[in-house]
Amino acid sequence: MKHTVVTFREAKKKGEKLTMLTAYDYSTAKLIDEAGIHSILVGDSLGNVILGLEDTISVTMEDMIHHGAAVARGAKNALVIIDMPFMSYQTSVYDAVVNAGRLMKEGRAGAVKLEGGAEVCPQIRAITATGIPVVAHLGLTPQSINAFGGFKVQGRSEAAAKKLIEDALAVEEAGAFAVVLECVPAKLAKLVTEKLQIPTIGIGAGNVCDGQVLVYQDMLGMFSEFTPKFVKRFANVGEMMKEAFRSYSQEVQAGTFPAKEHEYTIADEVLEKLY
Ligand code: KIV
Repeated sequence: MKHTVVTFREAKKKGEKLTMLTAYDYSTAKLIDEAGIHSILVGDSLGNVILGLEDTISVTMEDMIHHGAAVARGAKNALVIIDMPFMSYQTSVYDAVVNAGRLMKEGRAGAVKLEGGAEVCPQIRAITATGIPVVAHLGLTPQSINAFGGFKVQGRSEAAAKKLIEDALAVEEAGAFAVVLECVPAKLAKLVTEKLQIPTIGIGAGNVCDGQVLVYQDMLGMFSEFTPKFVKRFANVGEMMKEAFRSYSQEVQAGTFPAKEHEYTIADEVLEKLY
């Protein structure tokens, strides 16, 4: 079944949990899709986990389109959501619409995601008016890392919690069909989830959200530079990969790989003529 914004709406209505994982390439997208995950986020976290950057600030529209299009080719049923990178929508409503359009036309997204609350509602309103579905992102929004002064839990003070609730209601009113809540206290995420008609997708926001998202390298143990508290390691694929790479290296050096079964043959009559 092809998942769309309707899947999100129906899931919230029925109280069924939504699943989302990040992906940045065709093969991983295909595996995630085949596992039945509802949606794939081509996150600008690709800056960290794919490009080896220290944050998401330098990620470009070209990066997002390049990786987004690869993911879209691998996702048959999952809804592909592509992140709008830093400064592709903050600069103006016009830029936001043009760049959201590029992510749909060139990246083949089914929806786009952008960070921020009331301050980006004009952008959300204008993008959704063109028929492009928008996911909002509140709490710890990594594109504002320099303003936050680091990766910190958001919404702990009364003022910050009230602002987060107001922002959530504002992005819903502006037309967002879902909102990601990153690194916020679980009880605040519960309150937001109860107040909204649209689903909340949590990452470091407890299990009461309407759905969950994780960066796939984090949940597979493939990225060890920084592991936030909210990450659960569902498999240690990183270690398995290193073990396989070591075995390959040993077998190549020992001359046991490639073996006979990996060789192509040539007819002896042809070979004789070559000497
Ligand atoms: O870029 C990303 O991967 C994200 C998720 C962490 C929600 O925005």
